[in-house]
This record gives sequence, structure tokens and C-alpha cells, in this order.
Amino acid sequence: MKNSPIGVFDSGFGGLTILKEILQVLPEHDFIYMGDNARAPYGDKDFEKVHEYTLQSVQWFFQQGCPLVILACNTASAKALRTIQQKDLPFIDSNKRVLGVIRPTSEVIGSFSQSKHIGVLGTTGTIQSQSYIIEIEKFSPDIIVSQEACPEWVSLIEKNEMETPDADYHVKKHIDQILTSDKQIDTLLLACTHYPLLMKKIKEHTPPGISIISQGGIVAKSLLNYLDRHPDIAENCTKNANYQFFTTGDPDDFNNHASMFFEKQIVAKKLILP
Ligand code: DGL
Repeated sequence: MKNSPIGVFDSGFGGLTILKEILQVLPEHDFIYMGDNARAPYGDKDFEKVHEYTLQSVQWFFQQGCPLVILACNTASAKALRTIQQKDLPFIDSNKRVLGVIRPTSEVIGSFSQSKHIGVLGTTGTIQSQSYIIEIEKFSPDIIVSQEACPEWVSLIEKNEMETPDADYHVKKHIDQILTSDKQIDTLLLACTHYPLLMKKIKEHTPPGISIISQGGIVAKSLLNYLDRHPDIAENCTKNANYQFFTTGDPDDFNNHASMFFEKQIVAKKLILP
């Protein structure tokens, strides 16, 4: 049986929050998820490292037969996607496609805000890259974007410390900072695929009337739309509802965390990248 799954990649667990939503709209497709947990976090790594690790991962997905790979990681989308699409893909295989999460989110985020003032919360890498400022400007030039790097949040989530006093401290600190920097913000974008796991705490520290938007649903809808518009790619993606999971880290640890991110039991296989 031919198996050409859609690849979904993240530095670790965060991309599972995206895959969970994708499966709501494309349950019949085959998927292969890979988290590069052994080398996570990516959020504090420079462009070269994030590109090197992401490219290695993308090549692995291609070896598994994936016609299409989604970088379900904002940091990889911000720091590696453009180089992979423009410089690497033409040499590797110009029939393959690699998509990210920043563009589909930037396309629609403007429509969530009444005040036209949006706050973007992300890793240091995503925020420093300015990708959201650049992309949102293309689709909604009337939107004022403020940004805040939240460097402690991924590690709180990965250590399962979302309900600790530390979580309260770091979540409140960054929410207060971004909302003080622009008092007209009415929409906060969680521009890191890990952050939905902190949603409860983020809501607790956000005043009423401010919407908190995570990306899963947005990316899922955009993928559905992409496959409709690109039948040449869609027809290469097989549909046996077969989902596989790989991690470069410890599979037991991955399985324990994954059920939290994915809200289903997962059995991941160990992957060793070169
Ligand atoms: N999930 C990644 C993102 O969306 C962040 C995790 C990391 O720093 O590796 O940016």
C-alpha cells in the first residue's frame, strides 16, 4: 500500500497542537509527525542552527515519502522556511512543498481585532526575526503590531510546570508588559505552538475583553484550502488515516507529554538524525 503522508514538524511537542486541529479537518489523510526533542528548544538558537536542524528534518520527511511538509513551529518557520523554499528545495526536489505557520496566521489575524491593535507573543527567535510584523503588514497594513518574547514559557510547558507559582509569575509578567506597551491591544496572538498549553494561565492574567488566539484552527483551515487549490500536490498525499509519530528524544518521555498536547495516547518511535 502506497504511503505518502503529510509531514508535520516541530522542535518538540508544540506542533501536536497544530496536528490535533489538522486531523479535525483532514482525518482521512496519512500523517507523520516528528519532534526534534533532542535538540529543542529552537527558540534561542541562531539562524544557521535552526536552518541546519530544520533542513535535516525536512530531508528525513522526504525520505519517508512525504510530498508536503508543514513546519508546525514558528521559530523554524521564521528562521528556516524561506531559505528552504528558495535555496534548498530547487536542488533537493522541486516537486516537494514545505509550508510554515506564520503566513497563514498573518493572513487572517487582522480580522480578529476591532481596535486594529494586536499583540504577538512568541519565542525570542520568532520575535527577533520580525516575521509577524513583516507578514501582517502585507495582508493588513492598517494593523499596529506589538511583540513580546516570552523565553521562559516553552520550558515551563516542557517541564509540565503550567500550574506553578513560576508559571503565574512569568505569564503575568509578559502579558502585563505587552498590554502596557500598547493599551489599545484587543487581540493577543499565541505565536508559538507550545503556548496553547498555557492557555488557562494566560486567560487568568489577561483582562476580560481581550481575545487570545492560538494557531491550530487557522493553520488547519489554511492547509485544507491549500490542498483544494493545489490538486497536483493533493493527489500525491495518500489517505489511509495512518498516523505515525517520531521523536529524536526519549520516546517514553515524548509519549507522556504528547497525550497532554494531543489529548490522545501516542506511541512514538525513536529517530536518530545524522
Ligand atoms: N514550538 C516552537 C514554536 O512554535 C517553539 C519551541 C522551541 O523554542 O523550540 O516556535
